[in-house]
Amino acid sequence: MANRIAQNLLTTQPSPTQSQQNRYARITGTGSFLPPQRVTNADLVTQLAATGVETSDDWIVERTGIRARHFSAQGVLTSELAVTAAQNALQAAGLQAGDIDLIIVATSTPDMVFPSTACIVQNKLGIAGCAAFDIQAVCTGFVYALSVANAMIQSGAANKALVIGAETFSRILDFKDRTTCVLFGDGAGAVVLEASATPGILATDLHADGKHVGILCVPGNVSGGAVDGAAFLHMDGQAVFKLAVGVLADTARTTLANAGKTEADIDWLIPHQANIRIMTSTAKKLKLDMDKVVVTVDQHGNTSAASIPLALDTAVRSGQVKKGQTLMLEAVGGGFTWGSALIQY
Ligand code: UT7
Repeated sequence: MANRIAQNLLTTQPSPTQSQQNRYARITGTGSFLPPQRVTNADLVTQLAATGVETSDDWIVERTGIRARHFSAQGVLTSELAVTAAQNALQAAGLQAGDIDLIIVATSTPDMVFPSTACIVQNKLGIAGCAAFDIQAVCTGFVYALSVANAMIQSGAANKALVIGAETFSRILDFKDRTTCVLFGDGAGAVVLEASATPGILATDLHADGKHVGILCVPGNVSGGAVDGAAFLHMDGQAVFKLAVGVLADTARTTLANAGKTEADIDWLIPHQANIRIMTSTAKKLKLDMDKVVVTVDQHGNTSAASIPLALDTAVRSGQVKKGQTLMLEAVGGGFTWGSALIQY
């Protein structure tokens, strides 16, 4: 253990043979995990009807594109999903957990108020000593986490990072609120990022505008031994929709410009999977056919920070995404936050 800690500390120093100019962060493995309980729209419609909440498969499919989602079993927390996704990514990269010197978990449904889910994941992976922390940018969390890990690898502060998006949104859904409870699901996705002399993450772009805090939030806080305020997700769907379609194409274009690329260079758009109508609108603005867009919202629902790495891993394992292709990742979420990342896979 002590050796591993010493090794991890040592490996956070930049390699003297690799200058920062040609030091990139490259995805060398992807992984994901969906909890086994799959809930179709028909299942949900039946369960909600039993409590007097009216919805329909037609409404959900037409307004969102969602047909099914996965829910964790009672008591299964975010770190458990994250660990399995991380192990799958490590296996794909041909690495052991002990090789990792940075863990970032993007989540809005942490196991505890503190410590971070990343520390819990680190312990469950059986390692110690490397930096581990959470990033909270709701549905934009994975893009934020990827951007921070990229900067740490480029600066030489890390060499091999696990970047994970993991959520158990079913725990914060109000099943009496049909405007939100049909939208979200649970899951986790992960990538291994390694320092490399070849690209890599080409560019990223992050934003936030805190005046929109109230349109997508879980307003409760822990105080005096209880939850003070509502502990369920609240969303003004139309306001989020409007903001989302306004910013997504812009951030993608900024990232392309930062990388010296154009829309024509994109092989795959891998958007945050919230609503098929938002994805279609963004693809149209970027002049991309829908056959260049990775779509998993139909099967996963909106898994917040997990949705992009889940979609990426699904596309890698199905053979859609191939080595060397150029991927545009983009997301919006509570905060209000938004951002994008351009990747040479
Ligand atoms: O992940 C973070 C980012 N989040 C998002 O990107 C979500 C963005 N927002 C959306 O995706 C959409 O706004 C929703 C899917 C949430 C809602 O779609 P919409 O087309 O904006 O519907 P709406 O809110 O305008 O509601 C239309 C109607 C309303 O009835 P009335 O007032 O027209 O009679 C709602 O009460 O649909 C009703 N409705 C439902 N009906 C059946 C709302 N939820 C349901 C439901 N089943 N589950």
